[in-house]
Parts: sequence; structure tokens; C-alpha cells
Amino acid sequence: MMRIGILASGSGSNLQAILDACAHGSIPAQVAAVMSNVAGARALSRAEEAGVPALLLAHGAYPSRDAYDAEMVSLLRRHQVDLVCLAGFMRLITPVLLSAFQNRILNIHPSLLPAYPGMHAVRQALKAGARVSGCTVHIVDEGTDTGPIVIQAAVPVLDGDTEETLAARILVQEHRCYPRAISLMAQGRVEIDGRRVRIKGSSGDPTRTLSSPELSD
Ligand code: GAR
Repeated sequence: MMRIGILASGSGSNLQAILDACAHGSIPAQVAAVMSNVAGARALSRAEEAGVPALLLAHGAYPSRDAYDAEMVSLLRRHQVDLVCLAGFMRLITPVLLSAFQNRILNIHPSLLPAYPGMHAVRQALKAGARVSGCTVHIVDEGTDTGPIVIQAAVPVLDGDTEETLAARILVQEHRCYPRAISLMAQGRVEIDGRRVRIKGSSGDPTRTLSSPELSD
């Protein structure tokens, strides 16, 4: 079974969705370790509650980003991780981590990339006056939120939305998309072709929904 390492800085609601999907057997994978750069992050206690190793890597303790990522790589290897999932990990990763897990790092981002990469994606969407936003699960490359897109789901922006209400509506879709994308990776169905991803054996109806068809098949 595929072993996942999850990197999270915050509340860890995506981590929880992944833990739940693994526990229910809806994805053929298991969470091998959870790592955080933030002491006391809710993500770490969620891992502990699920009986998963929860590791704090405080960045202040390392002389450079490379040294930090090298330690991360050695911990991920020690836990025999096959796939790394960034789930609200608010730190840029370096080529040290990227090259150790090439095309095996996923990220979730709260917008329909390539719109609104980087920080404060939900605020950016509101500021731009977008009527539709959403979330994206993508493979991480050397850019910021630029890697090949695996799954997306669209979410309407409503007239009275604030950053909080829109983020919460997007989060509901994130919790569907992330386990689904991991499942596709674990099944070996994600084929990368340049900037594009092809999902092997997909039977989804591309006209039925505003989300990636693979989300609903
Ligand atoms: C999620 O909305 C995720 O998309 C976002 O942080 C939140 C983490 O929530 N990630 C980014 O903005 C990355 N640039 P969670 O800790 O409850 O999973």
C-alpha cells in the first residue's frame, strides 16, 4: 500500500480528510507520517489522535532552507514515504526535497490555478471580482503553484462572500479533491505529459460537472 507523508502548518482539515479516507479504505494508501514546521499546529494533534507519527521540524533549528529540506527528506525516507502531500504547508520547498521526490509531491491550493497562485488566493479572487473560484490539486514543480494539474473543483463566489465564507466553501471541495487525487496517484493512473496530466482509465463525463470529471467517477 502506498505510504503518504503529509506536511502541514495549520489546522489540518485536509490532513483529516485524507486520514479519514485512508481509514475508510476509500483510498489505497496509508498516512505514514505527518510533519509540521509549526509547534502546536492542530495538524500534529490530529495525527497523534489517528495514531500516526507526528513530527515537528521547527525551521529555526536549521541553518538554511536546504538543510531543513535535507532533514525532511531523511525523515520521509525513514518512514518509507512514497508520496508527499503538502496540505496547508506554508513554506516554499527547495530542489533538495523536489529532486528526492520528483513528480511525487502533491499540493492543494485554494483557487482554480493558474489563477491566483501564491499567498492569499481567496482574497485575490475576491479582489479580482471573480464569480467562480475553486481549488486545485497539482503536482509540485520548481515554480510557485505551477505544476501539472491533477484535479480541480469549481466553487461559486456569492455576492455577500467574505474571505472566510468563500474559503470555507472552497475547503468543502478541497476535502473531496485531495483524497481523490491521492487515490488516482496510488492507483498509478496519473500520467504526466509535459504541463498536462492524463488520467488513465477515466470514465467521467466531462460535460456533467464543473469539476474535473475524475472527481466523480
Ligand atoms: C487550505 O485551504 C489550502 O488550500 C491552503 O491552506 C488551507 C489549509 O487548510 N493552502 C494554501 O493556501 C497553499 N498556498 P487545512 O490546514 O485546514 O488543511
